[in-house]
Amino acid sequence: MISITTEKIIDEKRQGEAIKMKGGSEHKKLYMESYGCQMNFSDSEIVASILIAEGFSTTQDPKNADVILMNTCSIRDNAEQRVRNKLSQYQKQKRENPKLIIGILGCMAERLKKNLLEEEKLVDLVAGPDSYRDLPILIKEVESGQKAVNVLLSREETYADISPVRLGKGGVTAFISIMRGCDNMCSFCVVPFTRGRERSRDPYTIVKEAQDLFNQGYREVTLLGQNVDSYRWNINKKNEVIDESKPVVNFANLLEMVALVNPDLRVRYSTSHPKDMTDEVLETMAKYENICKYIHLPIQSGNNDVLKRMNRGYTKEWYMNRIEAVKRILPDCAISTDIITGFCGETDEEFQDTVKVMKEVKYNLSYMFYYSERPKTLAERRFDDDVPLEVKKKRLQEIINLQLEMSKEYHQTCIGKTYKVLIEGTSKKSVSDAYGRNSQYVTVIFPIENYKIGDYVNVKIDSATSTTLIGKAVK
Ligand code: 5AD
Ligand code: SF4
Repeated sequence: MISITTEKIIDEKRQGEAIKMKGGSEHKKLYMESYGCQMNFSDSEIVASILIAEGFSTTQDPKNADVILMNTCSIRDNAEQRVRNKLSQYQKQKRENPKLIIGILGCMAERLKKNLLEEEKLVDLVAGPDSYRDLPILIKEVESGQKAVNVLLSREETYADISPVRLGKGGVTAFISIMRGCDNMCSFCVVPFTRGRERSRDPYTIVKEAQDLFNQGYREVTLLGQNVDSYRWNINKKNEVIDESKPVVNFANLLEMVALVNPDLRVRYSTSHPKDMTDEVLETMAKYENICKYIHLPIQSGNNDVLKRMNRGYTKEWYMNRIEAVKRILPDCAISTDIITGFCGETDEEFQDTVKVMKEVKYNLSYMFYYSERPKTLAERRFDDDVPLEVKKKRLQEIINLQLEMSKEYHQTCIGKTYKVLIEGTSKKSVSDAYGRNSQYVTVIFPIENYKIGDYVNVKIDSATSTTLIGKAVK
């Protein structure tokens, strides 16, 4: 879990303006906490923007808050349990301060809807991912003594016109949401139920947001979507052009448009889907130095029967063909993945196929999980969650160990090489060390000397751990 809070982020001038402009909510303090994927963190910035425009200011301390909003994740059961524990804690605070408003946003709000209000009595307000524009009204409803819920999913909402208030630290890297929802229906996944149908955001608003960020001093943007390869603008799912007078924009085109904002603005993206990833995207990445050479390509399992049960829409052979394309077109590209162990019916042999693929691809980084059955998903309806928890965990540990070894090995091969690093901050251990990332998304630590946060520096690597490269700046 990563949780962020929002104080300091919004500069005082902007807060002041908002307070002058609006009546009613001035001096109300908002505390936000985000869980789960990058998309949730990005959404929290949209929520902060909406509420600051209504006169709210933010606080980093929940004890000072008039409104506490938790932006939540449902992807695995333990993510939900963590939120429940935190909500119970805030309920204690509410007993001392009955005016405190506690709201839940995001995937858990969408999945559990009124239950959180009526049965579990954990919150006053429930807002799903497509209803954030409604938050000021929902908060007013709670203030007038009602409970407030909006969990309607939309086919259109992309919050395209809302300029997010940046909540992250540093002011160097930022997320830009390019699409919402997912139409894939992977059988294990709750996202299509909590975030609704896939829709793409107007590319010109995306480019403008990237340009604005660059003007404010940001040097890296990450374009976010559940399946960025199916980004499409001005063309429908049947491949019919919607408005002949305007260009059609696919994900490769969008990447190029953002890369052209400025050669000093790095561009990353997440997440690709193996069934949809095109050579055109890879070729666009090769064409622009500022598009980072890093691809996150979730495989989930290396066995074709498991992939079929997962409804992933590709085979291991198809996936390996995509990996070969990455290695051919982008020889210096790092590749990471997501893997689930112990999915319904997974045998030892099937699991060993995943181990084999990991060794073949030699991932630089993997995000690994054991399967957690989610209500209403295809898997829950169709298959038994029959792999014992100890087996799921044992398999998970095996691949974690393997990945650790592979990452260590990869980082050893970086020693002696020089990488262009964007400084994101100073190291936790010492303010005289800078930390940043290279194009391949590996963290690099080096003496900061006279360099500043936001500078690009060429760093020669002289040692490495399983997670980090350590070096010195070279002129
Ligand atoms: N159980 C375990 N892991 C899951 N993921 C998605 N749903 C589940 C689930 N029910 C993992 C997938 C996905 C990542 C974001 O989370 O690997 O790519
Ligand atoms: Fe879930 Fe699959 Fe969509 Fe990813 S692509 S959000 S795993 S349904």
